[in-house]
Amino acid sequence: MSITLDTITNLSKRRGFVFQSSEIYGGLRSAYDYGPLGVQLLRNVKEQWWRSMVQLRGDVVGLDSAVLQARQVWQASGHEEVFTDPMVECRNCHTRHRVDKLTDPDLCPNCGKRGEFTEARDFNLMFRTNMGPIDSAENTVYLRPETAQGIFINYENVRKTQRLKLPFGVAQVGKSFRNEITPGQFVFRTREFEQMEMEYFCRPEEAGQWFEYWIEARSGWYRDLGMNQDNLRIRKHDDDELSHYSAGTVDVEYRFPWGWDELEGIANRTDFDLRQHTEHSGQDLRYYDQEADERFFPYVIEPAAGATRTTFAFLIDAYDEEEVRGEKRVVLRLDHRLAPYQLAVLPLSKKPELIEGSERIATMLRPSYDLEVDVTQAIGRRYRRQDEIGTPYCITYDFDSLEDSAVTVRDRDSMEQDRISIDRLEEYLGSKLTS
Ligand code: GAP
Repeated sequence: MSITLDTITNLSKRRGFVFQSSEIYGGLRSAYDYGPLGVQLLRNVKEQWWRSMVQLRGDVVGLDSAVLQARQVWQASGHEEVFTDPMVECRNCHTRHRVDKLTDPDLCPNCGKRGEFTEARDFNLMFRTNMGPIDSAENTVYLRPETAQGIFINYENVRKTQRLKLPFGVAQVGKSFRNEITPGQFVFRTREFEQMEMEYFCRPEEAGQWFEYWIEARSGWYRDLGMNQDNLRIRKHDDDELSHYSAGTVDVEYRFPWGWDELEGIANRTDFDLRQHTEHSGQDLRYYDQEADERFFPYVIEPAAGATRTTFAFLIDAYDEEEVRGEKRVVLRLDHRLAPYQLAVLPLSKKPELIEGSERIATMLRPSYDLEVDVTQAIGRRYRRQDEIGTPYCITYDFDSLEDSAVTVRDRDSMEQDRISIDRLEEYLGSKLTS
């Protein structure tokens, strides 16, 4: 179903998915805090990415590199010189805008004045700070604007210590920072965000085939986790859109409430980065193929996704409303692997013996599942709350449970209920909640 950005922003705040950063001080624009449910969803998205990119493969290993890196890294990668967006300022209201995002190049989207823009100038998106107490050019460091460079500068460390042969990949999940000129659309474009990137090193002549392979694999990942196929598409970059390092890029796009927009970029980075770092560091980063006795720079195919942005897309995609017995029911149809809680345990009433029984069940299930015990309000309202936060199964412990040692398990999507004996409960849930 189509929803508005407001609907999802309100749900996020009301149910504890996402809060504005520094809210009690009026809010810091374009930074967000993930609340108890948001952090679970975000963690699950990252875990599913890691599972498919690292755990289930024999040819990809992981890395967690520092956010702060030598300034030369960003000189070699080209970011210091060309990681810029063209910016104009409105002389009337003094707001700044990205030229390439203006729908009308003369019209200020903030105050509506025409023809008041300054000349466009390039604005570097990297956050700059100092290493140590002195604010000087030698002490300048940047907060990384992508996780990818941490992989390139560790290419030889990883290859050697893990005895890797081409083709192989190195995956990383972590924070990146960009001083975006026009952040917005809630957590879609923020100045602090998380990325999930993988650099896949291969022989240059095989780059084309791996590029196609990763486009397929990555689109499949979103579909497998339940994202609606009709809301996903692949869009090839035009030549004038390509990043400075890319010989070809496609975006995996999602149909957001404001239209199609990027979820993930898959790029053929050629041998650009390893060559640049070889030149700037003086360390030979070529690959030696023993059998052929040849040395060459591998090519790199890079699927680069945003963890926070992808989490947002899953939230939007899962949102559904329906009418049940004359009332609106809001339900997040999240895949159970992503849902913040897989289970809720609900005593039918606040009677101590029902609460006790529920706690016993929760203790039994907690090692295997994320769950919450909810004792507030009438049972119907508690079901609705669990529907709205995407919990696939609610387990209700009622008065009969005291007699028959069984509980009711309610399915979020069908709302059907099964009576299950407590000693069979783990087996029953296991069959429903395995991927
Ligand atoms: N290493 C290549 C790279 O960083 P990118 O297309 O600039 O490529 C990859 O970024 C992904 O990171 C994007 O597809 C998007 O999902 C996410 N991303 C980039 N900038 C972002 C921002 N300001 N806020 C949230 N996510 C962002």
